[in-house]
Amino acid sequence: MKVATELDSITSLIDCCGSTTDLCIDSLTRILASLELGEDWLAEHLPNPLPESGYHRTLLHQAKCFEIVLATWPVGGGTLVHDHGSLNSQGVVKVLQGNLFNQIYALQEDGTVRPGERLIAETGSTVPVTHDLIHAMGHGGGHQGVAASLHVYFPWIVEVRYWDPKTGLPVENNL
Ligand SMILES: [Fe+2]
Repeated sequence: MKVATELDSITSLIDCCGSTTDLCIDSLTRILASLELGEDWLAEHLPNPLPESGYHRTLLHQAKCFEIVLATWPVGGGTLVHDHGSLNSQGVVKVLQGNLFNQIYALQEDGTVRPGERLIAETGSTVPVTHDLIHAMGHGGGHQGVAASLHVYFPWIVEVRYWDPKTGLPVENNL
């Protein structure tokens, strides 16, 4: 594979992902580890107004085989429990600002989910999203500002399934 050196823009990230023939979680982790976007880039790309609950997705790029999303997380915000779609998409998340929690769930035979490990990902770290991962992510606390993260998925995520974190039951409609 092409060895990623220092990447300093979304354009260079797109070029690197697009030219990597063996795009996988390992190669993408190395690519995102070498990405340094800087505070100015983040300040220019945060949504306005900032989200006050849940989270906000900004689609930055869709290529044929991958997509890049900026996620913004207010204090107390996060996703529902979810999988990564009918195409079993996978990817890597890089934390750009603040901390994120990553609450992992296990799918039960009856179609419900049960909570497992809860991890904290700190600024600058990367989080693998495997094709069979069911989880919830959100602001990890520790500071009062929004948290932000960059997500690269391959292929695009479509037809996500959701679960209620309190009951573990599937949620029929996308909320
Ligand atoms: Fe996810």
